[in-house]
Amino acid sequence: IPKHYEDDLEDIMIPSGLIDDRVERLARNICQDFGHADHLVALCVLKGGYKFFADLLDKIKQLNRNIEHSVPISIDFIRVKSYVDDQTSDEVQILGVDNLDNITGKNVLIVEDIVDTGKTMERLLKHLEQYKPKRVRVTSLLVKRTKGSTGYRPDYIGFEIPCRFVVGYALDYNEHFRDLGHICVINEKGKKKYAAEAM
Ligand code: PRP
Ligand code: MN
Ligand code: MG
Repeated sequence: IPKHYEDDLEDIMIPSGLIDDRVERLARNICQDFGHADHLVALCVLKGGYKFFADLLDKIKQLNRNIEHSVPISIDFIRVKSYVDDQTSDEVQILGVDNLDNITGKNVLIVEDIVDTGKTMERLLKHLEQYKPKRVRVTSLLVKRTKGSTGYRPDYIGFEIPCRFVVGYALDYNEHFRDLGHICVINEKGKKKYAAEAM
């Protein structure tokens, strides 16, 4: 834990080493399933998804060196935002970063950091329909057991976590804590210190 976050965190929920192992497993599963596809578009959901996306693609790249049916991958980005403090604003804003016409007719793998209520992913999946992708699969490193969940379940899940607000590994609290390697639980002090109102 870096010094600048020492007082703001409750505990480490998932240490970075464990994340690394899990990401490799997920990469294997994904490569197996897409092994016979001709092309895959990996779509990163910014900002939270960037770290998982980068690490997952690294693992896939390493695997592709050793397998018979390696799959060429292109990458795209989309920015989706709804959280202030630890609450969803229920307004899921989709800010396209790239022209999504290049997913038309393609196999798409959406890469997300966390599915909490599921609203972001349901909204995004709906948004992508207009581009007529061939097949869309979703991987999320984390799925939270949330009371108000829409019930949405991604195709590839890293970890199921209890209903606590987590940060680190690119997950943020009002843009803080993305620069933390482990996935940690924020404490009350941290929530106060970095509250939207306090900024
Ligand atoms: C977070 C997270 C997911 C989404 C999950 O993004 O990265 O994208 O919320 O929440 P939901 O399942 O309840 O919709 P956020 O809106 O904080 O934007 P960010 O990725 O830029 O941090
Ligand atoms: Mn996000
Ligand atoms: Mg966020």
